[in-house]
Amino acid sequence: MCGIVGCILKDDEAAPVLLECVKKLEYRGYDSVGIATPSSKINIRKDKGKISEAEKNVKLSDLPGNMGIAHVRWATHGIPTQKNAHPHTDCNGKIAVVHNGIIENYKELKNNLESEGHIFKSDTDTEVIPHLIEKFMDQGFDLEIAVRKTLDMINGSYALAVISTDEPGKIVGVRKESPMIVGKGDGDYFLASDVPAILKHTNNIIYLEDGEMVILDADGVTVKNVLGEIIEKEIHIIEWTPDMAEKGGFDHFMIKEIHEQPDAVRDTLMESSEIEKIVNNLGGIERICFVACGTSYHASLIGKYLFESLMGLPTDVILASEFQYSSKAMDEKTLVIFISQSGETADTLKALRTAKKRSETLVIVNVVGSTATREAKHVVFTRAGPEIGVAATKTYVSQLTCVYLLAAHMSKRMDLVEELHKIPKFMVEVLDNEDYIHRIAKKYKDAQDFFFIGRGFSYPTALEGALKLKEITYIHGEGYAAGELKHGPLALIDDGVPVVAVVAPGNIHDKTLSNVEEVRARGAHVISVGSSDDEILKSESKDMMVMDSEIDELISPIPYIVPLQLLAYYISVEKGIDPDKPKNLAKCVTVE
Ligand code: AGP
Repeated sequence: MCGIVGCILKDDEAAPVLLECVKKLEYRGYDSVGIATPSSKINIRKDKGKISEAEKNVKLSDLPGNMGIAHVRWATHGIPTQKNAHPHTDCNGKIAVVHNGIIENYKELKNNLESEGHIFKSDTDTEVIPHLIEKFMDQGFDLEIAVRKTLDMINGSYALAVISTDEPGKIVGVRKESPMIVGKGDGDYFLASDVPAILKHTNNIIYLEDGEMVILDADGVTVKNVLGEIIEKEIHIIEWTPDMAEKGGFDHFMIKEIHEQPDAVRDTLMESSEIEKIVNNLGGIERICFVACGTSYHASLIGKYLFESLMGLPTDVILASEFQYSSKAMDEKTLVIFISQSGETADTLKALRTAKKRSETLVIVNVVGSTATREAKHVVFTRAGPEIGVAATKTYVSQLTCVYLLAAHMSKRMDLVEELHKIPKFMVEVLDNEDYIHRIAKKYKDAQDFFFIGRGFSYPTALEGALKLKEITYIHGEGYAAGELKHGPLALIDDGVPVVAVVAPGNIHDKTLSNVEEVRARGAHVISVGSSDDEILKSESKDMMVMDSEIDELISPIPYIVPLQLLAYYISVEKGIDPDKPKNLAKCVTVE
């Protein structure tokens, strides 16, 4: 989940460009940052903390040369300190490596290397790599072969970029189960974990596959397969513009992305005909199984309610990390739908690789060219644009839009597609009411615990509201099916405890109101999300975030999440937390 960048530039100093690129990857980890460039020795600047903090202590871009590598870290092995920050070097400071992933057999390798006299400076798994490369270069192999020989020795997942003073002017990159893309500009060449990092410099992108190696030098980019043979790779022209990955006048990416949701839904609705084509090619599906993590899992839960209510199709939802233990019932008549914003989540990819052996697979994904898009049989793209904030917002509503389009085409409910086109307007109405939600956030920012309740289609919305709150405010927030409260959690409701009740109109309305009564009777402060004409709910609530009364229960999960995202965002801001970079989390979770 770290971020890596490498570049060779025709005319410019590399370090300032590497710093600017790596800032765009900070959503992948912000425990430490580092840059290295080669000259007669490897020059390194690195420190712990977010880039803005590290920059106060270390002049990160004060390094010579027109090429180098850089890294932002999300710690796995070794606490976030300067010595554990990447790049890591060999004994003589001639080789430097940045790494995203985990080396599973590093302990054994480290013991062997230490017994051969190698001196380690960090507690990371990564450091075995420069020492192994050093060992092979000392035996007379060139950098590329030494990297290949190192790969034969390490187990685990990696995206690596390596430089050496013995072969200045060259960067060797490899990937296995961690993302890496290559950018081919006009005399400027890049590798990176993700497209937005280098989008300002080039939109000509090559996607590396597992086992492939890229060699960057002044002459350009060469990609080789596992056997070391040169291979031709397609260059993809990326349509995202650099401004899409900027804050555009907003204080944080998260609030910008919340505001982009009406457009994200509109753009994703344009995928309708592509989805229809896929649906027409699906034959004999008797069962659906959704697989995902986190927010994408909540989008999947909505899928279950939708597919079961529209078509009566048996639908399971499995957390990707649990898939290996509970997927035995899948067969060739099961359509397994994976939802992943990044398309790189390790748990989801592992489940996808298992599922495709016996079932039809479809992935709903935001990142073009990501690993999931290359592994699933069918691919549906969410058109949310790049999402930088760690908390998923616009990608969630776009995922839901795809799930609804799939269900509409499978059930031939074209009236549902028409309903979906109204959603952007409903979202804009909530965004226009943002100041009111900010005031509610100020009132409740010091609460210790929050509960979120909902029934039916509103239950996953309650779960997602609770996840957003936890993620970016560090307040304990739990989502419950409203009817479950009396089976245990009600014991936790006391005077003044905030309970967010999601009460869409429709079938479940009255029953949810009874649950609202139950918590009110125990002193809870009810903050509700409900229809503007729902006078009873208004009278039961301390605060109410109102939604357009035209919103039908069936599509309510898409607009009804917006006030909950805003509530979490403003509580985070009021508590002085950076909502874009919540502690301990990263945007793309590439470890199991
Ligand atoms: C959402 O706010 C979280 N950051 C997280 O739960 C995320 O949804 C999860 O890690 C899955 O990621 P994916 O959609 O990229 O697979």
